[in-house]
Amino acid sequence: MNWKTLYQQKRVSAVDAVSHIRSGDRVAVGHACGSPETLLSAMMEIKEQYRGVELVHMVSMGPSTYCAEENARHFFHSSLFAGPNSRTAIHQGRAMFTPSHFSQIPRLFTEDIMPLDVALCMVSPPDEHGYCSFGISVDYTKPAVESARLVIAEVTPHMPRTLGDAFIHISKIDYLVESDARPITLPLPKITPTDEAIGGHIAGLIKNGDCLQLGIGAVPDSILGFLSDKKDLGIHTEMFSDGVVDLVESGVITCAKKNLHTGKMVATFFMGTERLYTFVHNNPMVMMFPVDYTNNPAIIAQNDNMVSVNSALQVDFTGQVVSDTIGFQQYSGSGGQVDFVRGASMSKGGRSILAFHSTAARGKISRIVPHIDAGASVTTLRTDVHFIVTEYGVADLRGKSVSERAKLLIGIAHPDFRSALRAEFESIYLKGNPLMRTLPDELRRTFWPHEARQNFLRTYQDVS
Ligand code: COA
Repeated sequence: MNWKTLYQQKRVSAVDAVSHIRSGDRVAVGHACGSPETLLSAMMEIKEQYRGVELVHMVSMGPSTYCAEENARHFFHSSLFAGPNSRTAIHQGRAMFTPSHFSQIPRLFTEDIMPLDVALCMVSPPDEHGYCSFGISVDYTKPAVESARLVIAEVTPHMPRTLGDAFIHISKIDYLVESDARPITLPLPKITPTDEAIGGHIAGLIKNGDCLQLGIGAVPDSILGFLSDKKDLGIHTEMFSDGVVDLVESGVITCAKKNLHTGKMVATFFMGTERLYTFVHNNPMVMMFPVDYTNNPAIIAQNDNMVSVNSALQVDFTGQVVSDTIGFQQYSGSGGQVDFVRGASMSKGGRSILAFHSTAARGKISRIVPHIDAGASVTTLRTDVHFIVTEYGVADLRGKSVSERAKLLIGIAHPDFRSALRAEFESIYLKGNPLMRTLPDELRRTFWPHEARQNFLRTYQDVS
């Protein structure tokens, strides 16, 4: 049948479309700024007909009213990345958090580990062949749509038509809901002097011809302003935001040196302003793929000189990095951090950078700590970590011993915390840690023979 006829047959109102969702169904919701808000609002309108509908979502940028306490009878949120709207719901038991690398999320759906009944997505209008683009959210949205029993798509002319492996044919959609909604936008981040200091340090680690991945937030964004004198940078990333557009327009980003997808920027989702969405629309320089491709470390590593830039919340003396929990609180998710840390470290000439302000809570807490907080979980292993950057400099941890790492990290901690951190270092490593102190002398010598202790003392003298 002609796709135009199919289109007309499948066209329904939002409420009609979502009334096909049944109590107890597991429903995947299109990701981040590509969330189909018209469909979610329609679900709220008829919420009385639902009991225990499970909504699976990763980064949520909309109001996420399904997380609200008054909707707990109707909806249950399965979170793959906590955000401002889902954090409280997770703590109060109305939502459940499932840890996963971003690259692995499609498998949860396609291999029926989390079998899906329904997928909701937002797409561009069909082209002359009947294909709609997933636009700014291809990521897990496309694999979810390909796995679900029922597919409901919100079709809006404001969704950019992105290219690559980003399309769905009208025949694969069960119900189409036309809307005039615009994809959610993300304002430009406010870049502080601290962000700028960090950006300057990171720019010093980036060379002409490098291929970049840039994570979420002001810190990764702040480096873009420092790259205007670089040449032939490439992009293979999970997402990018507005700053990249300036560097393409000024000729800094050409992707000419990329080994894989030469001349193209590769991504899986976008969050930014209308300017970004206009830039990616029908742009042959931008290739979108599902996240199990973009974030596969073996794919990432095919580009030489891959540099990943992400942020974190805490790092301990040994180099264990916490990026998604604050103590027992699930703050965000690991997202694609480990995918890119590993991909970059496997790439010839590759480097991974984790950058953050040296303090949190308006300067009251050091993010460089002797040991991670109780309840916190390690996002990036100390065996994977490479560069840590704060506004006070760069610590290159790869190939460094634990004591050298502590020394380098204390060197880039906020000056107000350095002496306390040195004292902790001394008490843990030089006077014997609490476990050591409880051991009888004979056993302690076995664990920490004289020469090792002398070596340690030498390192410590460098620290102080
Ligand atoms: N202890 C207590 N509170 C802390 C803290 C710590 N160690 N570290 C940070 N915080 C607080 C901050 O003070 C801030 O609170 P405020 O908003 O009240 O000031 C809040 O936590 C957020 O910290 P901030 O560093 O500003 O967060 P961010 O928005 O820059 O995001 C991450 C940083 C690490 C949370 C975010 O990048 C992330 O989730 N990363 C993991 C996923 C990832 O890297 N994906 C990669 C590809 S996109």
